[in-house]
Amino acid sequence: MNTDSIKIFAPATVANVSCGFDVLGFCLDTIGDEMVIRKTSQKGIFISKIEGYDLPFEAEKNVAGVSALALLKDAQLDHGFELEIYKNIKPGSGVGSSAASAVGSVFGMNELLGRPYNKTQLTNFAMKGEALASKCEHADNIAPAIFGGFTLVKSVAPLEILQLPTPKDLFAVIIHPQIEIKTAEARAILPKNIALQDAITQWSNVGSLVHALHTNDYELLSKSLIDVVVEPFRSQLIPHFDAVRQSALGHGALGCGISGSGPSIFSLCFGNENAQSVAKAIKNIYFETGISFEVYVSKINTEGIKIL
Ligand code: HSE
Repeated sequence: MNTDSIKIFAPATVANVSCGFDVLGFCLDTIGDEMVIRKTSQKGIFISKIEGYDLPFEAEKNVAGVSALALLKDAQLDHGFELEIYKNIKPGSGVGSSAASAVGSVFGMNELLGRPYNKTQLTNFAMKGEALASKCEHADNIAPAIFGGFTLVKSVAPLEILQLPTPKDLFAVIIHPQIEIKTAEARAILPKNIALQDAITQWSNVGSLVHALHTNDYELLSKSLIDVVVEPFRSQLIPHFDAVRQSALGHGALGCGISGSGPSIFSLCFGNENAQSVAKAIKNIYFETGISFEVYVSKINTEGIKIL
């Protein structure tokens, strides 16, 4: 292997997982970005290529660049890095596009440096990049992208990430209507306070969801995938959300909700066969609307970001 250059796959992720706003997330394996990271003799972060979407080349204005600069500042190196970014995840899609960019650069740099940083430290650097995109340092997309599987952000300061088990028959279906919802805007519409009864329902669901993951209890998982706090507000931004949810549940999905800040909608299913039938059903809903969309079926990716 050329130790001065590395190519990586940075996966898409689903944040919130219905009841776990800003704390829960899981990692996908059929969608993701690629990035080439190279050592340079010159100090600094240099973005030499961006394919897929129109994003800034200046490191300070680019999500991958900002997280790379955070690592570079901490590492006090006498050299720099060049980044080539091949974006497949559309920005503003709700499946962790900015998180994939943010983790890609720091993961690759860490590998080239001989892994001086652990996964939690990499998450911390990547959060700086994520904050550029969403105006808030949240780790619920970054953590599953780095650790793989399901993760829970126990605390942001100090940063503490818990890895949760992934039941082996769990599949995700993602439908991505081709509209853009900016995370910052989807956060701005949320209320600052919530009713105590809603808080009780929500933390009971988070607790039972975590228990269901630990015990492979798909029925309990299904009963826990409910969001009474955020979804009622954000679902209004997503055309035909209720119809998609109803159809997914009607075709046997364990649960269905907004992926991150939307507009993507995720369903969790028992087995690939059920996931394929849910995918087919929700495609039919969107076919009739004239809104273009993409649908992905993915196993939960327990490995996370990886070297190609
Ligand atoms: N937890 C974040 C939010 C994820 O819902 O705003 C953004 O993808």
